[in-house]
Amino acid sequence: MKLITNIHQLLVTGEFNTPVSGQAMSQMPFISDAYLLIKDDRIHDYGAMKDVPTIEGAEILDATGRIVLPMWCDSHTHLVYATGREDEFVDRINGLSYEEIANRGGGILNSVARLRAMDEDVLYEDALKRLQQLIQLGTGAIEIKSGYGLSVAAEKKMLNVIARLKKQAAIPIKATLLGAHAIPKEYKDNREGYIQLIIEEMIPTFAKEGLCDFIDIFCESGYFTVAEMEAILDAGKKYGLQPKVHVNQFNAIGGIAAAVKYDALSVDHLEELTEEDIKALTGSNTISVALPGCSFFLGIPYTPARQIIDAGLPLAIATDYNPGSSPSGNMNFVVAQACIQLRMTPEEAIIAATINGAFAMDVASDTGSITKGKKANLMITTPQKSYNAIPYRFGQHQIEQLIVNGLPI
Ligand code: NIG
Ligand code: FE
Repeated sequence: MKLITNIHQLLVTGEFNTPVSGQAMSQMPFISDAYLLIKDDRIHDYGAMKDVPTIEGAEILDATGRIVLPMWCDSHTHLVYATGREDEFVDRINGLSYEEIANRGGGILNSVARLRAMDEDVLYEDALKRLQQLIQLGTGAIEIKSGYGLSVAAEKKMLNVIARLKKQAAIPIKATLLGAHAIPKEYKDNREGYIQLIIEEMIPTFAKEGLCDFIDIFCESGYFTVAEMEAILDAGKKYGLQPKVHVNQFNAIGGIAAAVKYDALSVDHLEELTEEDIKALTGSNTISVALPGCSFFLGIPYTPARQIIDAGLPLAIATDYNPGSSPSGNMNFVVAQACIQLRMTPEEAIIAATINGAFAMDVASDTGSITKGKKANLMITTPQKSYNAIPYRFGQHQIEQLIVNGLPI
């Protein structure tokens, strides 16, 4: 057993049967001057130092002055991709918009061409390296989407890579089928045909092979309509795939209400949000996910987090790590942005990046909080006055030691 002693602040402690919503997000459940006991790969016990048990032969880790918290849960990424798109980055600096770049064949379709040409083993090795870097930055669970293949063979190649990462990685991973990320160029004049391909081939084949946990679609002007989303979510539902969808990134076209109708686990982006959208989310089980790295990188509005939380809803935050709109998978930076740009308090941001993120990808039974029986996937910070320092010192993470599955790495 391992015993972490003298923890200055131990957060996010307790039992969580549902995501933390609204006002409750402003209360950090934590213990000052705490201990935490690890048995094998799990959290065995924790509490105040005054009650610390004496354990014969336990390995002691002294955390005087340090904060201990669960590793970040990044519920929205496109981690598997072929190469970066630095050329488009420079085009945008020189004045082109994300949409203009996409319209002239760049954007998602650029990544599609590159991924189709890449061997599965190379894709896997690159993705594994990225994943290992993210773990070093404190990511302890991650969702990864397909969506740069857009053919049965290439989507399968991406999902195979995610399946191999699941086997290899030390952290929980969830796979999402995003066949409806864009219309591939060979279906440019036959979008109907592409939707049919997703519904009749991709969903049944990949679901039967157990290659995906969730279904996603980019519901947006210029990409997929609300009616197309409903058709795809309906097909997914028949195979038990719960939706986690891209909606309201550039325009509010009614995707949120439709996603809620299909019992979406999460609706992600929400940079554009209407009163109607908030109404649709109220009383539902759907979690809103903000992706501030994307707003930062593209220079588009930030998700109105205050409006969402103040309406009593749960909110998670994630990186959206992808080569086009958010080429960083650093959750520490996302937590800082949540405070600085979304005006979330440190309590709200940390809860959004841990337990709520875990719920937004259905891994909360195993991770996302300091709870007896959950995986011991923990971050120990450098000495800090309080957990407020975590978002305050933006751009430089405060992690001194990581513990993954009970083992210091
Ligand atoms: O989440 N919005 C759609 N998809 C990605 C961007 C993908 C890309 O540009 O490669 C996103 O922002
Ligand atoms: Fe995304």
